[in-house]
Amino acid sequence: MKILVTGATGFTGHNLAKRLLDDGHEVRILVRSKKRVALASHPLLDIREGDIRDRDAVRDSVNGVEKVFNIAAMFRSAKSVDQDYHDIHVKGVKHLLEAALEYNVARVVHCSTVGVHGDVKNPPATEESPFAPADIYQRTKLEGELWAREFAAKNGIALSVVRPTAIYGPGDLRLLKLFKLAARNVTPVLGDGKMFYHMVYIDDLVQGFILASEREEAIGEVFIIGGAENMCLDDLLNTIAQILNKPRKILHIPALPFQLAGSLCEKICIPLGIEPPIYRRRVDFFTKSRSFDIAKAKAKLGYQPKFGLKEGLELTATWYRQQNLL
Ligand SMILES: NC(=O)c1ccc[n+]([C@@H]2O[C@H](COP(=O)([O-])OP(=O)(O)OC[C@H]3O[C@@H](n4cnc5c(N)ncnc54)[C@H](OP(=O)(O)O)[C@@H]3O)[C@@H](O)[C@H]2O)c1
Repeated sequence: MKILVTGATGFTGHNLAKRLLDDGHEVRILVRSKKRVALASHPLLDIREGDIRDRDAVRDSVNGVEKVFNIAAMFRSAKSVDQDYHDIHVKGVKHLLEAALEYNVARVVHCSTVGVHGDVKNPPATEESPFAPADIYQRTKLEGELWAREFAAKNGIALSVVRPTAIYGPGDLRLLKLFKLAARNVTPVLGDGKMFYHMVYIDDLVQGFILASEREEAIGEVFIIGGAENMCLDDLLNTIAQILNKPRKILHIPALPFQLAGSLCEKICIPLGIEPPIYRRRVDFFTKSRSFDIAKAKAKLGYQPKFGLKEGLELTATWYRQQNLL
């Protein structure tokens, strides 16, 4: 089967494309720069250079594929303006879905985020929990998801949406800071450390994407894909510290002054294109509860996470050590 994956120079897209190639599929990827493609020499890989914001580039990449995985996204960065988020998370999705309709693509899987639920008031959140996006990244991810679902329903496109929890595993650098935090002699934690943080190991997520693209029951549905366990922040940091053989000393610090400082720093720095020394969202990391129910994915997709949290953290820590990152 010929399959398009967007975002294949990123952590998730790369792993998904690799798994599809390993399974014997012909994989086409739409990337902004060929130089960033790690799988470049694979015989089943077809690389198209282009930006998801460019309608013609997207049409060219969709023409002739049977399945599309839209993984591309832009994470928070001070150098990006709100319009960039909108163009990638909403306009880019429109380009893909319109092309999927034009070229009769059999299945489309769109990657959203559990961030559309924001701070979960009644954990664990399900796919039906209220939306509460808190920043431009989450707002535009939600807008793109909702637009895609409506367009697909109206036009008979077989779309499934996956909302991953926090993605981690060997090759990811985003959660390296969590490991570095746990590795400190004294780990400062803003707030009481009791907030939940729900992670998903990359191989489990990739399996979730594949199931969502294959099962008939997945058409027209949204699935939260997360790991089997979910820990509060203190327990998570203690587990990582144990894996790293580091002393376990957590120092709880009141979060409010940092929340205020984060908001102020962003207001001053972002309009000037400067990375703020404190981000409000970094503070939110310690104070917002993220706990999700994966029962729907289990029941409808047969999704079953294979990697326990401790095992996944160990594999990730090993990779960080091999790369001399820890
Ligand atoms: N990471 C998480 O914890 C998390 C949690 C929930 C949901 N998600 C969602 O999961 C997906 C994958 O996340 P990730 O962290 O693995 O992503 P990532 O590593 O940040 O990679 C993002 C990918 O999107 C591509 N991209 C960005 N702008 C593009 C554009 N204008 N045109 C074409 N491609 C573009 C990037 O290409 P370049 O190399 O050219 O920049 C890169 O390949 C995203 O949809 C994200 O919203 C992530």
